[in-house]
Amino acid sequence: MNAHQSLAIGQPIAPPEAISPAATDADAMVRFEAIAKTYPAYRGKPGVNALENIDFAIPRGSITGVIGRSGAGKSSLVRLINGLEKPTAGRVIVDHRDISALAGRELRLAQRSIGMIFQHFNLLSSRTAADNIALPLEIAGWTKADIKARVAELLALVGIADKHDRYPSELSGGQKQRVGIARALATRPSVLLSDEATSALDPQTTRAILDLLANINRELGVTIVLITHEMSVVRQLAKEVVVLDAGRVVESGHVADIFTHPKHPITQSFLAEAIGDSLPVSLASRIMAEPAAGGLAVIRVQVRGAGAGDTLVARLARELGLDVSLLSARIDEIGGQHVGSLTLGIPLGISGGEDAVTRTLAWLSQYQFPAERLGYVA
Ligand SMILES: Nc1ncnc2c1ncn2[C@@H]1O[C@H](COP(=O)(O)OP(=O)(O)OP(=O)(O)O)[C@@H](O)[C@H]1O
Ligand SMILES: [Mg+2]
Repeated sequence: MNAHQSLAIGQPIAPPEAISPAATDADAMVRFEAIAKTYPAYRGKPGVNALENIDFAIPRGSITGVIGRSGAGKSSLVRLINGLEKPTAGRVIVDHRDISALAGRELRLAQRSIGMIFQHFNLLSSRTAADNIALPLEIAGWTKADIKARVAELLALVGIADKHDRYPSELSGGQKQRVGIARALATRPSVLLSDEATSALDPQTTRAILDLLANINRELGVTIVLITHEMSVVRQLAKEVVVLDAGRVVESGHVADIFTHPKHPITQSFLAEAIGDSLPVSLASRIMAEPAAGGLAVIRVQVRGAGAGDTLVARLARELGLDVSLLSARIDEIGGQHVGSLTLGIPLGISGGEDAVTRTLAWLSQYQFPAERLGYVA
C-alpha cells in the first residue's frame, strides 16, 4: 500500500487498509496528490504542520463539502486550490493542470478559472455593487461595453439587479454575499471556492445563499468546494463530503453514507450537533442511576437509514407486548436517509425487575439498532 493513501470522494466508504491508491479518475476537477503544507517557523515562532498526507479528488461538477473544526486546515486547503499558497510537498491538480507549479502570469491566468467567496465578503467599500463585480473583468482587460453587459447579466443571475449602484454599506449581509458571488463568477470560472461564505449570515439568509449556489452548480455546471464548520451547510448543499481533522482527511465519501454511518469521532460529533443528540432538559434532570420499582428504564436508540425509525416503536410494543413510552425523538433527513435517535421508556416490573429491558435490548440488537441504557426515571 502506498504511503499516501488516497480516497476518491464518491467511492464507497472502506476501512483505511482497503483504500485504493492515488485517485487517478480523469474526471476530477481538483486532485490533491500527497499534499503536505507546513508554515515555516519565523521570528522565534514555531512552524505549523497545517496539512499532511492529503490525497483526494473533487469530482467535476460536484458540490463537495470540506468540514472540520477551527484550525483543522480547511482554509489552507482552499488556498492551495487557487494557488495562493504552495504545498510543501505534493501537487494540486486543478482541471488537469498542476496549479502548484505555476507562477506569475501563468498563475494569474489559471486563477481566472477559480472563483472564491469569503465569510466577510471582501468587497471594496469605495465601489458600487456593479463596480465590485466589474473589478476582475477590468483586471482581465475586458472592454467597457463587454464589462457593462456582463455585470448586468451577473447582477440578474444573483437576484440583485436593482442594487447596481449601491455601495456595500447600503447592502444587507445576504446582498453583499450575492455581490461576492457575482464577482467570483465574473470570469466564468469552472470552480467556485467558498470559505465559510454563510458563517456571518442568519439561518434564513444562509438558506437563500445556499439555494443560489445550488442553482449556479446546476445551471452553469460550476464545481463548488464548500468549506465550513457547520454540518447544516454540508447537509443542505453538498453531495460529497471530506472531514478534516488536525490537517488530515479522517473520512470522505457521499454525504448520506458518511452521516448515516459516521466512523471517526469528529464526524460523530458533527452529526450529534446536527441532530441534537442531547435529551430535553425536563427529561435529563429526572434521570437516575438506579431503577425504581414501577418506573421506566430510559433507552436511547440510534436510527439510521431510509424509513428506519417509522414503525420501530409500534413494532417493539406489538412484538414484545410492552407499554413502550416515547420520551423524546429527533429524526433528521440527511441525503435522503433518516438519521437521529429515539428515547424510549421501558416499564420496569413492580419490584423494579428488568426483564422487559433485557428483552427490548435483545430485540433492538437483533434488528441492528444501536441502543444504550441512559438510566431510569420514576
Ligand atoms: N499563514 C500562516 N502562518 C502560520 N500558520 C498558519 C497560517 N495560516 C494558518 N496557519 C495555521 O495552520 C493551521 C490550519 O489553519 P487554517 O486556517 O487552514 O484552519 P481552518 O480549518 O481554516 O480554521 P478556521 O475554521 O478557524 O478558519 C492552524 O494551526 C493555523 O494556526
Ligand atoms: Mg478557515
